[in-house]
Amino acid sequence: MANENLSEAKKAKKDEFYTQYNVIEKEMNAYLEYDPDVFRGKTVLLPCDDPEWSNFTRYFAQNFDRFGLKKLISTSYAPESKNYQGFYQPTLFEKNNPQFDQVKTTTKGKIFTLTEDRTGDREINIDDLQWYYLDGDGDFRSMEIKKLRDEADIIITNPPFSKFREFLAWIIESNKQFSIIGNMNAITYKDVFPLIKENRIWLGPSISSGDREFQVPDDYPITAAGWRIDDQGRKFLRIKGVRWFTNLDHGRRHQPLPLMTMADNLKFSKHKEIRGKSTYDRYDNYDAIEVPFTDAIPSDYDGVMGVPISFLDKYSPDQFEILGATQRGCHDEVPDTRKYDDYWEVTQSGKKTGSSGGKTNENANLLGNDGRKNYFINKDGRVIQSAYQRIFIRHRRETNK
Ligand SMILES: C[S@@+](CC[C@H](N)C(=O)[O-])C[C@H]1O[C@@H](n2cnc3c(N)ncnc32)[C@H](O)[C@@H]1O
Repeated sequence: MANENLSEAKKAKKDEFYTQYNVIEKEMNAYLEYDPDVFRGKTVLLPCDDPEWSNFTRYFAQNFDRFGLKKLISTSYAPESKNYQGFYQPTLFEKNNPQFDQVKTTTKGKIFTLTEDRTGDREINIDDLQWYYLDGDGDFRSMEIKKLRDEADIIITNPPFSKFREFLAWIIESNKQFSIIGNMNAITYKDVFPLIKENRIWLGPSISSGDREFQVPDDYPITAAGWRIDDQGRKFLRIKGVRWFTNLDHGRRHQPLPLMTMADNLKFSKHKEIRGKSTYDRYDNYDAIEVPFTDAIPSDYDGVMGVPISFLDKYSPDQFEILGATQRGCHDEVPDTRKYDDYWEVTQSGKKTGSSGGKTNENANLLGNDGRKNYFINKDGRVIQSAYQRIFIRHRRETNK
């Protein structure tokens, strides 16, 4: 399955997934729609790229004039430093250039910059890109690339999956605007969730479901399903759970979710888990109602609500505030983390795992040995914590302030 591809890749620290042009275009269009001048006068840095054929470089170089960019910088990582090396051959573009260096081509990163019309065609475009070898290997953590980060206004890329956390921390410490591709699971990381909660980062609008295809090197070893080779012999892999993480504003963040009242949901909801019930379930261990579907959030409930993580695809900070999440590592974000003595951990089939007593939310939602989520029951056999991860939210109203 496609998700297995990602975890396989993560384990093996294979990071060579290349983003398709239309994936980039759709997301950038959403920022431009919200603010047509979002890139005007800005220096855009595309780190962790392969500028000679990256679609990020192509997209921004082609649109340089239209966006009114001040400068485009894109950098690549030295082939010898990559986790996955495979079969490497410099492109003809590099080989035929007088600067070509047999040793540097594998040991050094490269930088491409675009600032002015060099060909005299009165346009600034891809033909005006200048390039040279970096002093180092192009590692985003190096001083050389940090300097470029500090020079930039906006950082855009699909960073290496195996270093996502580190990459995000690297951007956050720089206080720059950014838009990067990652996996939805990153929401639950303990160093990512607080940023989402504080509205310092959010999900981009253009991907909210399904999977996306990424190109991989032709000799990339893929054992799981979900890949194809096109008629030009290029290899693609489908990956689920992909999202843009950004701090660039967009229109969807300011569109409130259309919602029904609690009474109407209980009567008319399309979800059989809600329709016909007398009320929403409540958690036994904290003061909140369980809302298993984002479109079943009641418009008139003022208390805390536990909603699925996919709620973030629809989240408007004007409409809701985020209070916490149940994931391990985020337990201190949960409204109530009291200890319970009379609780047992059970597998999804209801079998006790042997753990009991003294549990806090910290232990909830772990994957059991069988890879499925365990959950907790109390001494009456009632489930006290959803088997699914939840985000806790509340309507943003005067009364909730
Ligand atoms: C997911 S790929 C994306 C490439 C390109 N941005 C795109 O989307 O088409 C991430 C790239 O980052 C490179 N990379 C891995 N570790 C890196 C590091 N420490 N510094 C810079 N680049 C790195 C990988 O070799 C890979 O080429």
